[in-house]
Amino acid sequence: MNNFIFSNPTKIAFGEGQIQELKNLLPKNARVLLTYGGGSIIKNGVYDQVVSALQGRTWFEFGGIQPNPHYETLMQATELAKEREVDFLLAVGGGSVVDGTKLIAAAMHFEGDPWDILAKNAPVHRATPLGCVLTLPATGTESNGNAVITKEATKEKLGFGSPLVYPQFAILDPTTTYSLPPRQIANGVVDAFVHIMEQYMTYPVNAKVQDRIAEGLLLTLIEEGPKALENPRDYGVRANVMWAATLALNGLIGVGVPQDWATHMIGHELTAMHGLDHAQTLAIVLPAVMQHKRAQKREKLIQYGKRVWNLQGSDDAIIDGAIAATKQFFESMGNPTTLSSYGVPRESIPKLVNMLVKHNYVALGEHGDITPEDSRKILELAA
Ligand code: NZQ
Ligand code: ZN
Repeated sequence: MNNFIFSNPTKIAFGEGQIQELKNLLPKNARVLLTYGGGSIIKNGVYDQVVSALQGRTWFEFGGIQPNPHYETLMQATELAKEREVDFLLAVGGGSVVDGTKLIAAAMHFEGDPWDILAKNAPVHRATPLGCVLTLPATGTESNGNAVITKEATKEKLGFGSPLVYPQFAILDPTTTYSLPPRQIANGVVDAFVHIMEQYMTYPVNAKVQDRIAEGLLLTLIEEGPKALENPRDYGVRANVMWAATLALNGLIGVGVPQDWATHMIGHELTAMHGLDHAQTLAIVLPAVMQHKRAQKREKLIQYGKRVWNLQGSDDAIIDGAIAATKQFFESMGNPTTLSSYGVPRESIPKLVNMLVKHNYVALGEHGDITPEDSRKILELAA
């Protein structure tokens, strides 16, 4: 196991009815900006619950943060937050709202063009504290320091990370996820699954704890994901999916182990260029990465095939079976695994690779050995 320092400062309030905890979790006398997306929280009653918990406080609101949140919209929110002298941000919604709110938190105090935080890795020295009520289990953003933002004008999707933008608290009430459409249920399960794989499917470093937790989380998603589609109002299923998605990317399973993230980097270019949902891109790219890097990932592929999919036989048969089972799982959730099934033509592949080069994603993966030529081959495998 490699050396590490682990700290996760986000306080989690988990379970039905926990939105009421906002009363205790928000700092006294805070001037709060409530941020949200396109209106799902109004339809499912989460907005009303939040507003009721905000009673007696000074608060403002900013709605309309898009999926794959737009930088341009977030700059409008930043202006409002500064104008109203807000000192606490409360994000209510899916990963896009939480990610967007992290950028608002940093941009409020940034001197210069805040796009530099994403495009030039400009350091974040100060951020407004934030908390969140999560309504879509998927990204893990509710208890990590990362955000991914899209600039509409240039169709670029870039990320940033800072310890200053970890939410101070995250309220996870599984009943808020009952209203998710099937497509977002599937996206959430696939995204969380791939987060685990990015930190697990590398090479062994004798990190038994991380491996066993990762395998347990993968099995939970394999078992509960399809049930969430079949039975949307099953509290136990929703609770297990929600907690699995948080643990998938709150840092716990990623400490002390090598990490990959090639699938995510290639996937972000697909979303930016073709508008595919984040998890749709992952369903396409991950199996192709597993196939293209099967020699480098050999030991972990065999471990995964045996422990997660119960496969037996020769090593190569287990690897083939593990990749096929992964694809089959994504397909069964409703996320096809080829570019063509989303109407992305082969001609896009060189353009996608050019964008990876532009963003300097030229040495991806746990060994830094996925060159633009490898990314091209991976996309060809997924065509
Ligand atoms: O906008 P509203 O009306 O709220 O509707 C949303 C949106 O249309 C809807 N939704 C959310 N909760 C709902 C609901 N509909 C009904 N009932 C509910 N309870 O779902 C749609 C998608 O929402 P979005 O927030 O975009 O989805 P998700 O949570 O999957 O977030 C995706 C974004 O997170 C980024 C992705 O790149 C993408 O931009 N990621 C962030 C990460 C991080 N910060 O650590 C890591 C991830 O790998 C990922 O890259
Ligand atoms: Zn993801």
